[in-house]
Amino acid sequence: MEEKLRQLREESLQAIRSADALDALDALRVKYLGKKGELTAVLKQMGTLSAEARPVMGQLANQIREELTEAVETARASLSEKALELRLAAEKTDVTMPGLPVRIGRRHPLNKVIGEAKEIFIGMGFTIAEGPEVELSDYNFTRLNTAEGHPARDRQDTFYFDDDDEVLLRTQTSPVQVRVMETQPLPIRIISPGRVYRKDEVDATHSPMFHQIEGLVVDEGITFADLKGTLNELVRRLYGPDTKTRFRPHHFPFTEPSCEVDVQCFECGGRGCRVCKGEGWIELLGAGMVHPRVLEGCGIDTRKYSGFAFGVGAERMAMFRFGISDLRLMFENDTRFLEQF
Ligand code: PHE
Repeated sequence: MEEKLRQLREESLQAIRSADALDALDALRVKYLGKKGELTAVLKQMGTLSAEARPVMGQLANQIREELTEAVETARASLSEKALELRLAAEKTDVTMPGLPVRIGRRHPLNKVIGEAKEIFIGMGFTIAEGPEVELSDYNFTRLNTAEGHPARDRQDTFYFDDDDEVLLRTQTSPVQVRVMETQPLPIRIISPGRVYRKDEVDATHSPMFHQIEGLVVDEGITFADLKGTLNELVRRLYGPDTKTRFRPHHFPFTEPSCEVDVQCFECGGRGCRVCKGEGWIELLGAGMVHPRVLEGCGIDTRKYSGFAFGVGAERMAMFRFGISDLRLMFENDTRFLEQF
């Protein structure tokens, strides 16, 4: 029996040590040490031994069991380590490989300049108002003191949705003035940036869709001096403290008196050039004191309240701000252009 045990020991140790995978090792453990394993099988024959030989063989068998158990553990540890190493090698990534470039977008020059204007006006206590782009001609014209038959209503210039000319794409942001005066309590101090539409052919300075920033202030004792102060502040904050402005008399149906405001040409500094068409000045916005008829139409008492309003062309503002000479660049979405801002 001793011979059998020693043989089993040799054979199993060798098998365990040369196992090359964890599942093979486990099969060997069952084969030699399991309940129905070979070691147990040998021990079952203990009954045939003499009383003196039994404890000796028992001790030997226990010693072999321990040895084998230990050998299995050692082999398991080294096989697990090897398996981990193999997996790591297989999953290895080269972290030094250059990544794919991510193209980061930027704000459009138009949105940039509108954002700057918003900041400036918010700093002066204005809030932002919104109005619909699909508007009633009542708001776009009639309530802005622009009577039936006024040339601004012409089908040549305005996109109407219906044959009765009642619904249109707003031609200006001024209808927001009426919507705000109808709904907001006095005093009012708002700006309203947004898209407007006119039937214009596309060229270097025209587009059938463009942007305006409307402004409206209504309070007690508002005068033309408030209008001038506010707009001069806007221009100087946008284009620098030395920028010169020129207020020219003009006509709008919904303001009286009305004016247009020019800024000294950013290109030539007033000497006259191609950009300002020799004028030395470029028109930036229309403005005026809100016509009493418009105020009264919104139920505002003109003995107590007065106001001023203005409408700035946002594309113009951006063109000055960044020295862009062709309006079309703003809407072509050419990234070579857009990346410059
Ligand atoms: N809505 C006018 C335009 O589009 C501009 C303007 C706004 C004039 C407010 C006076 C007051 O030309």
